[in-house]
Amino acid sequence: MNIVVLISGGGTNLQAIIDSINKNKLDASISLVISSREDAYGLVRANNSGIKNICIKDENKILDYILNLEEDIDLIVLAGYLKKLPEDLVNRFENKIINIHPSLIPKYSGKGFYGMRVHEAVINSNEEYSGATVHFVDKNYDTGKIIIQEKVEVLKTDTKERLQKKVLDIEHRILIEAIKIVGGLNEKSSN
Ligand code: GRF
Repeated sequence: MNIVVLISGGGTNLQAIIDSINKNKLDASISLVISSREDAYGLVRANNSGIKNICIKDENKILDYILNLEEDIDLIVLAGYLKKLPEDLVNRFENKIINIHPSLIPKYSGKGFYGMRVHEAVINSNEEYSGATVHFVDKNYDTGKIIIQEKVEVLKTDTKERLQKKVLDIEHRILIEAIKIVGGLNEKSSN
């Protein structure tokens, strides 16, 4: 399964995919990492692993770039990618684009809910639980069909940093599971 990963930041979810592939826990290959930002540390992670990577600031140029790759792409993974995808890209790769979000969607999701803002809102709302969600990407922010979700208890003593770490630990695990699930679904549909 050939994957393209889209990032905008640190890339710990990208690193989780790289590590799973390297440990033979995920039968996939990352054909390309695309970042919306030049300073994303995820680009360094890709370079360190010998993975082709590029900064494409204009999201309207992503589809052509992917379609001109040598290999056919089976799955696009948004791993901390902060821009909204153009409709032509979503339509061309319908049910083949997934996103990891650091909350129990539909709670704390949608435009403006990303990164530490999510964990801050969860703590300020005295939520008993938080967690992470992997979902299919559709034309809106965080509204596509949910693939996998896992929750974690929010302790009264949790800071937003501590909660972010607990949720990231879940993200790094369920993202790999989601890729396997979607990879299996696509395999069945192509047989
Ligand atoms: C993660 O919390 C992810 O859920 C959200 O952005 C963050 C990306 O973190 N979409 P990283 O760049 O993978 O470390």
